[in-house]
Amino acid sequence: MREKVSVALGERAYEVVIGPDLIAGAGALVAPLLARPRVVVLTDETVAGLHLEPLRRALEGGGIDVAALALPPGEATKGWAQLQRAVGWLLDQKVERNDIVIALGGGVIGDLAGFAAAVLRRGVRFVQIPTSLLAQVDSSVGGKTGINAAQGKNLIGAFHQPSLVLADTAALDTLPARDFLAGYGEVLKYGLLGDGAFFDWLEAHGPALVAGDMAARVGAVTRSVRMKAGIVARDETEQGDRALLNLGHTFGHALEAATGYSARLLHGEGVAMGCALAFDLSARLGLCAQEDPSRLRAHLRAMGMKTDLGDISGDLPDAGALLDLMAQDKKVVDGQLRFILVRGIGDAFITSDVPREAVLGLLEDALASR
Ligand code: GLY
Repeated sequence: MREKVSVALGERAYEVVIGPDLIAGAGALVAPLLARPRVVVLTDETVAGLHLEPLRRALEGGGIDVAALALPPGEATKGWAQLQRAVGWLLDQKVERNDIVIALGGGVIGDLAGFAAAVLRRGVRFVQIPTSLLAQVDSSVGGKTGINAAQGKNLIGAFHQPSLVLADTAALDTLPARDFLAGYGEVLKYGLLGDGAFFDWLEAHGPALVAGDMAARVGAVTRSVRMKAGIVARDETEQGDRALLNLGHTFGHALEAATGYSARLLHGEGVAMGCALAFDLSARLGLCAQEDPSRLRAHLRAMGMKTDLGDISGDLPDAGALLDLMAQDKKVVDGQLRFILVRGIGDAFITSDVPREAVLGLLEDALASR
């Protein structure tokens, strides 16, 4: 049960391998990339406790030397301080231009390690071994790397494509249920934005996927990655179509900012709720059928996911303040808020042509029904 998806980017093309037990098989998969039998691994302390020793055994079993640095877990790691520490450590390890850095972990480690690899000696290659569902279907593929700034998330970074991605679907067994469901928000996004048949499939198989059905997991991760790879190959640096991947993100980022990027709302939860709001807005503007947001909500509820603003604990700012937070998103172009809206399930498009009053009214109503 092993799938491969190619990301067709010319001389920067690479493969995403998807299936169970890829960490155990990493020796053979990584070896062909190496100029000398040595790798350095960046990970976090939680993931290290679960997956570093199996990875080390797999690589050393293939005759590859391994040095590893485990950073603290959590979003706060994605800043200058830990980047400086990681790059300093990589230099101490005498990583050379032709060496490979391995990112073992979720989105935080993938983004930080990828950025460290991008700036080290003006760029060394790296391999992503994503261990969260969100990282497997989104952040490990496509080459967006970086860290957060005091001014906002992901504002410092570079496009730097990995040389290989190993998405070990058995590693997802160790994910807390809430993190798994948050990652599922990004899986759902692919069905919603461009593949209505995938959404139908998720309605039928989502519960089995969460319960651990490996074939369903491999199927969902593969279909998600295939869609992302296609979009990235068309628009690597987000001049156009790649922005479709931000469905649900403008609302989601505002909600994440309003909740202080805390455990009150995980990124994938914000994306799922943001998709529901984007569908509501589309229905209000007469772009899609009224049934579409209801169908999406019914699936989110059936999966036990956060669906409406009432599912966020504690206070939220008023609609005007939420709109201001949306305007701070880095996807603002020439001061115009860009939205990803839909004509139906599986049919998203990009527009800057959304009246401010419509968004304000939607947020007011969503807050009032909490
Ligand atoms: N996560 C959105 C993108 O990679 O473009």
